[in-house]
Amino acid sequence: MESLVTAKKNINEKGFLDIETPNIDYVKEILKLKKEKNAVILAHYYQIDEIQEIADFVGDSLALAQQAAKTDADIIVFAGVHFMAETAKILNPTKKVLLPDLLAGCSLADSCPPEDFAAFKKQHPDHLVVTYINCSAEIKALSDYVCTSSNALKIINSIPKEQPIIFAPDRNLGDYLNKETGRKMLLWDGACMVHEAFSMEKLIDLYKEHPDAVLIAHPESEAHMLKVAKYIGSTSGLLNYVKTSDQKKFIVATEAGILFEMLQENPDKIIIPAPAKEDNTCACSECAYMKMNTMKKLYLCLKHELPNIVVEAELAKQAIIPINRMLELSK
Ligand code: 13P
Ligand code: SF4
Repeated sequence: MESLVTAKKNINEKGFLDIETPNIDYVKEILKLKKEKNAVILAHYYQIDEIQEIADFVGDSLALAQQAAKTDADIIVFAGVHFMAETAKILNPTKKVLLPDLLAGCSLADSCPPEDFAAFKKQHPDHLVVTYINCSAEIKALSDYVCTSSNALKIINSIPKEQPIIFAPDRNLGDYLNKETGRKMLLWDGACMVHEAFSMEKLIDLYKEHPDAVLIAHPESEAHMLKVAKYIGSTSGLLNYVKTSDQKKFIVATEAGILFEMLQENPDKIIIPAPAKEDNTCACSECAYMKMNTMKKLYLCLKHELPNIVVEAELAKQAIIPINRMLELSK
């Protein structure tokens, strides 16, 4: 059996265990290790199909944070991106939280560097700070409330109307929330590259082919997409809309991984991913970070209990305050 020292040596420059794994039945081995180690696998809807299939729980950002907050497993394997695993670690300082690929980041979280944000916040001392969960622990530590796309309206509406707010880091979600709430929140100028990749021109062409289709979109999408969408919601909101709608055909503007669950839940419906500007192999928009996690990396991280998420204790103490406020308001 490989020692921990050997395993650590095998973490390559990309941050994951790079070990030959010939002829391994990943499904069988992952299930075995999970049981042996009392681990739980939490996966986001944007993960590859195989990971969604083997996970104990698949959900949106809010549901995953809620699961992380209540699990009694000894190890949490977070099949998602870094800010999600980091949030799980902040909620579980004594548990091991593993991320199959340490480089699975987020363009939206990266668009809000902590020093720049701290300076911006300093310029507006009378403002409360509400941040989308897609940000680093440092940004959460500078926040009064955290929210996700499932509960953002609820969180913002819980704050008195006259209270000025800074919303970060997503300008598209912030703009959508301003329109919905009639507020004038100050917006940080960040965005998700996956949700800004949709092509309006190609969408119009797609509509000509499918005039009976209904467009539904994630609120990280740009305003012109949201303007023509029949429904706007988080990944779980989009799933619920398709499941409960009488319509038969949908164009879905979010990361394409959601199609796995959507098609499973609605085998009788036609679901088309919204087209991206660039010609990707899938003719849709995929999150390269979410797709960094593979079955091999999931197996290796569970086997060697690496890469292990670490959050400095003082930072975690600050960052948990706005996360707990969100969880409390979302009950
Ligand atoms: P939700 O699953 O909360 O809608 O978030 C979408 C997303 O972009 C996660 O990175
Ligand atoms: Fe970040 Fe966008 Fe990927 Fe979500 S889809 S993890 S917001 S880059």
